[in-house]
Amino acid sequence: MDDILEMREGGVLTLTFNRTAKRNALTAEMYARLADALQAAAADDAVRVVVFQGQAEMFSSGNDVGEFLQRPPADADAPVFRFLRAIAGLPQPALAAVCGPAVGIGTTLLLHCDLVYCGDNALFSLPFVNLGLCPEAASSVLLPQRIGWAAAAEKLLYGEPFAADEALQLGLVNRVLPPDEVNAFAQAQAAKLAARPAASLRATKALMRAPQRALVQQVMRDEAAEFERLLKGPAAREAFTAFLAKRKPDFSAL
Ligand code: COA
Repeated sequence: MDDILEMREGGVLTLTFNRTAKRNALTAEMYARLADALQAAAADDAVRVVVFQGQAEMFSSGNDVGEFLQRPPADADAPVFRFLRAIAGLPQPALAAVCGPAVGIGTTLLLHCDLVYCGDNALFSLPFVNLGLCPEAASSVLLPQRIGWAAAAEKLLYGEPFAADEALQLGLVNRVLPPDEVNAFAQAQAAKLAARPAASLRATKALMRAPQRALVQQVMRDEAAEFERLLKGPAAREAFTAFLAKRKPDFSAL
């Protein structure tokens, strides 16, 4: 079974997370597929809009926890970092359709999307601290900018999940819908955008993102260095081992 589905319809490229048995946890292979698809799309004028989606009950449970233990990203060329650079630099508008849990990178990737539609069952979480890690995807800068310092500090330091209505109120999502309507709604919105002049779409997005571009790249590098260091640390190891053993982590000695 293909863990990432690629569909092209008109000018819309849709990338679907499709590893449902593992709650769409993202592996190195999946990041590589996503990075390749986005790099190809960036160079393809026929792609006018990109959509990310999962299913009506699940967006993504974030990075595969087993891979964090077995084969953590080794350097800047690791597929996860290629994916993050590709999504951050994507010239076309990106939409996301989010239902159910969106954990870790499942939420931070939304900061690189231009429009986000979610189901009333969406549950966003940034559990980095609870996993002995730190933010990634430039979320340490983009999240406070988007939702304000107080809310971002709460979400990043406590790492507790928050629901669709709060995400809407914070400005993280554009609209909340019944879960079984979200993907279809995002497709309809993407088709609407794809019918608009492509050069104007790209120019508008580029202008909106330009003031941040260099900062985002720098912050991603800084975060990656810290993230890789923490990933090898005892707290992260305890958190991941506990998750896979289906027990609560014990940080009392750490
Ligand atoms: N990495 C690897 N495997 C994962 C996973 C992940 N991020 N998320 C879920 N899975 C696996 C579980 O180990 C389980 O596998 P099994 O059936 O072989 O035992 C299966 O997917 C179902 O997971 P489960 O936790 O039973 O599903 P749920 O619907 O009760 O809960 C989540 C869904 C997303 C809330 C929960 O799975 C979760 O919290 N996942 C971990 C998220 C995480 O810490 N991600 C890292 C972020 S940096």
